[in-house]
Parts: sequence; structure tokens; C-alpha cells
Amino acid sequence: MALPQGPLEHRYRGEHPVRTLAYLFRDDRLRILVAVLAFIVKHSPVWLLPLVTANIIDIVVERRPIEELGTNTLVLLVVLMLNYPTHLLYVRCMHGSVRRVGTKLRSALCRRMQELSIGYHSRVSASALQTKVIRDVENIEVSSQQSADTGLAAIITLVGGLAVIAVRVPSALPAFVIIVPAAALLVRRLRTRLRTRNAQFRKEVEQLSTRVGEMTSLIPVTRAHGLERTALGRVDNSLSQVLRSGIRLDLLNGHFGALAWILLNAIGIGFLAGAATVSYYAWLPITAGDVVMLSTFFTTLTGSMTMLMGLAPIISKGLESVRSAGEVLQAPDLEVNAGKTQVEAVKGQLRFENVTYRYEGDGPAAVVDFDLTVPPGETIALVGASGAGKSTVLNLLIGFIRPVSGRILLDGADMSTLDLRSYRRFLSVVPQESVLFEGTISENVGYGMPDVKAAQVRAALRDANALEFVERLPEGLDTVVGERGARLSGGQRQRIAIARALIRDPRVLVLDEATSALDTRSEALVQDAMDRLMRGRTVFVVAHRLSTVRNADRIVVMEHGRISEIGGHADLLRRGGAYARLQAGQIT
Ligand SMILES: Nc1ncnc2c1ncn2[C@@H]1O[C@H](COP(=O)(O)OP(=O)(O)O)[C@@H](O)[C@H]1O
Ligand SMILES: [Mg+2]
Repeated sequence: MALPQGPLEHRYRGEHPVRTLAYLFRDDRLRILVAVLAFIVKHSPVWLLPLVTANIIDIVVERRPIEELGTNTLVLLVVLMLNYPTHLLYVRCMHGSVRRVGTKLRSALCRRMQELSIGYHSRVSASALQTKVIRDVENIEVSSQQSADTGLAAIITLVGGLAVIAVRVPSALPAFVIIVPAAALLVRRLRTRLRTRNAQFRKEVEQLSTRVGEMTSLIPVTRAHGLERTALGRVDNSLSQVLRSGIRLDLLNGHFGALAWILLNAIGIGFLAGAATVSYYAWLPITAGDVVMLSTFFTTLTGSMTMLMGLAPIISKGLESVRSAGEVLQAPDLEVNAGKTQVEAVKGQLRFENVTYRYEGDGPAAVVDFDLTVPPGETIALVGASGAGKSTVLNLLIGFIRPVSGRILLDGADMSTLDLRSYRRFLSVVPQESVLFEGTISENVGYGMPDVKAAQVRAALRDANALEFVERLPEGLDTVVGERGARLSGGQRQRIAIARALIRDPRVLVLDEATSALDTRSEALVQDAMDRLMRGRTVFVVAHRLSTVRNADRIVVMEHGRISEIGGHADLLRRGGAYARLQAGQIT
């Protein structure tokens, strides 16, 4: 089934959730109309039944012709039969529309995430975004569906019931208009009290779950120190608290449940007796059938009214989720590429012209007056203390962030005029910890390259020093790795990531501490693979290890966002400045 496309986000206004919902459902309005009509037919027995019952009682009491009994029964049976097809039609149209809107929203959210800048993604956690795509859209679906099902049922019952009463016993109408809402309100009040208690109880259960989670993750620590008793004591406390409030809640539920039930039925009985009295003394022209009908309607209409009032929290939860999805769909932080120059080829010259960058907030600039020209094929090592601004320089280079002042030029062209997606086809990045997705090793290496050949994948893996261990895996290149796949060591994962970078044959290569999470043995293998990867390309590498740094053509030493020294390894050591101090201190 084709996914709905289109620039949904242009008209999405989370601050007006009702209008936004109407906009979301706009394409489905015909289907919704059909659904409402189908619902009216399918739901009609609910208000027809009391009427027909009244008719039948009157036929018996007033000894009217028996044929009328047949007609009444037949009408009701036909309407009952209609319930089946109309119910299906309703589900198809209404629930289908709701699911389509949910899918449209999810797809819009995912597309938006791919357009939002990396700055946005570093501010907003991945799990928060995940929640929006899954949970918020689900809330919107559930809330729309329940509002439609319950709301339509209640409204149609109310309208149908009142219409029947208005036609048959108009004099009873005022009593309904006053007593039904009053009774519904009373019942609601009782239930609301219960809901707040329920919410409190849920909080205590959540606290218990935190406690248990804490206990399980602390088990190694607890056991190592013989603190089992203490740990269990903490959980036991929570447990007995949940037990106490659970029992209290059950009792309360019993109280209010019984009270509400008695109250509602007592009003119902009062209503029945009242109607019977009126009929008995013939104060109003009410037949025996009418008495039964009015009494039945009292119960159903009060129920519908209560249901309608109960929808308020469900609706507000859905609207809240519409707002929440808007936080992503309306985020202004886009990476704009439309209409910019396509990069067709890259030689690899990169030039930073007095680039300054400051992250949001009021901290000092992360990169200050960074000025550097890198000819094609040169390897630049960035070194400096943690927080010196090395990763920020790399992010500027990738185009994840834009200079606050100054320019970055690629082969002489200002990067702010280029379509960054086309530039990045010539770029490979190996981060500190590489992410493999769930798929085979071949798929992971050839990510984003649909026509890649098996021989190319093998060559890349060989150059990345990965072929040997890959071939030892049970299914070789077709072994599934990633979230639920084979477990690979950090060094193995890193070598697969290097193969992924190699196969793209990039002109510009960015390595951010690609070896710092590895042990010495895997580091040697990775280092060897990286040397091969770096040959003939423009490379920016952030590294702590001497072996990587020493081989760089030039070393750029950064302090507080500024370049403090530039030069070759031996040259800088001889100078005895910041680099020499760093070497003595931390680089091994
Ligand atoms: N996303 C961010 N938001 C705000 N400040 C940041 C962010 N990333 C880095 N910084 C700050 O910018 C400075 C440079 O960071 P970074 O480039 O990561 O340094 P390095 O990679 O050299 O350790 C640091 O002071 C850091 O706290
Ligand atoms: Mg860093």
C-alpha cells in the first residue's frame, strides 16, 4: 500500500490541535461522512427498541389488532439485521481513516527527522523522538477512534431518544432535559473522585517499578558487598506501601461503585414510579407502553450522557499528543539544501577562513578564529584537551553546523552555497563508536549503495583488516549483525565501519577518535586499516594515540577553540610548546 505523501508539516499547527486534526482528516472527509451515516443506521436499534416495546405493550394492553405486533417485530428485526453490514462499513471507513492519518503522521515525522539539523538531534534525545513517532501517534489514533465510537453512539442515542419522546410523549420532554444531565453529572462526580485515587495508586506502582529496576541493575554491586538484606528492605518498603494503598483503593472503589449504582437505579425507580403515577391518574395522556419506554430511555440516555462526559479526558490526551507531534513537525531547525549548487566532483581542498562557532546558550565560543587551508590529499591531525573544540571543527567540516562568522570553502566554493547532501556523497565519517544496523555484514558495508558487488565488499573488508574474522563467522558476509545479530567486539565493529567508509572511496575522510575505545591489539589492526583508508584523501583525524598523530602531514593543536600550534610531529616536539606538553601528559 502506498504511503501518503505530501508536505503535511506546512499546515500543521500544534498550538491549534483541533484545527490541525480537522486538517489531518481532510482527505478522508467523504469516508467519514459515510461512516457517520452507517453508524446512524447501525445504532438505531438502541433508540428504536424502547419505542417498539412500548408499541407492543400497548397492543397487548389495549387489545389492538394482532397484525400490528407482526409489523413492529418485523421492523425491529430488519433494523437488527442491518447492523452487520453497516457496522462493517463503519469500521472500514472510520477506523481506516484513523489509521491512515496515523500512518501519514508517522511518515511525516520520520521525514522531518531526516531534514532536521544535527544540532537539533544533539539537543533532543533519540528516545524522545521515538516516543513521538510511536506513542503520540498511537494516542492520537486511540483518542480519535474512541471519540468517534463512543461519541457517535452517545449522540445518536441522545438525539434519537429525545426525538422519539418529543413525538410520542412531548409532555415528558422537560423532565428528561432536566433530570438526565443532573443524574449523569452526579455519577460523573463520584467517578472523578475515584480516578484521582486511581492515579495516586498508579504512581505508587511506578515507584515500585523504579525500585525493582534499581535493585536488578544493582545486583552485582549488592551481591559483591553482601548487601542483599538492605536491597530487599528497600523493595519490601515499596511493596508494603503498594499493598496498603491497593487495599484502600479497592475498598474505596467498592464504596463509590455501590453508591453510584444505588443512586442511579434509585433515580430510575423514582422516574418509573413518577411516570406510572402520572399515567394512573391520567394527569397526562401517557399509556402503559409509554411508562415502560420512558423508564428505559431514562437509563439509556443517562448512560449516554455519562459516556459523553467521560470522553473529555480521552480527547484532551489526544489533543496533547497533536501538540507534542507538532514540536517535531514545526521545529524550525532545518538543514536547507533546496536550490543550492550540486557538487558533482570533489578534489578535496578545504579552507577554513576565520571560522568561529558558538553553541546555543551563553557559553564561550567552541571554535574561535579557526584559519586553516588544507590541500587535497593532506592528513590533518587535530589534538588538544577534551573540550578544546576538535569535534566541533569536524562537525563544521561535515556541514552539521554552520559557522557563526567566517567561511568554509570546498575546492574554493563557499559551503553555505552548496547542497550538502551532494557534497557528503564524497565524504566518509568513522565515528568513535560505529553503529551497525540489523542486517548482514554485506548490507552494512554497502549501506546506501544499491548496486555494490560482492567482490567490492570483499575488497573493502580486506583493506579494512576485517575479511579474516568475517570469513570465520558462521555465515560469512551474510552473517546478520546489529541490534539482534552476532556480537562483535568494538575493534571488529570499527573495522566494518572502516570498510563502510572505504567502499565509498571518499575524497574527504573524517575520523573522530576512531580508535580511542579500542584495546591495544585491535587498535593495531584498526590503525593499519586506517592508514590504508587515509591514503590519497583529504583526512581530518582526531586522535589521542601517538601512532595516528605522528603519521599526519600536519598536526593542529587546539586550546579553548583556538589553534595554538601547527606543524609536523618532530617539529612541534622540538618547539617544546603545547604539543610537547600534551605528549608528556596524555598521548601514549
Ligand atoms: N551540542 C553542544 N551544545 C553546547 N555545547 C557544546 C556542544 N558540543 C560541544 N559543546 C561545547 O563546545 C566545546 C568544544 O567541544 P568539542 O568540540 O566536543 O571538544 P572536543 O571534541 O575537543 O573534546 C566544549 O566546551 C563543549 O562543552
Ligand atoms: Mg570530541
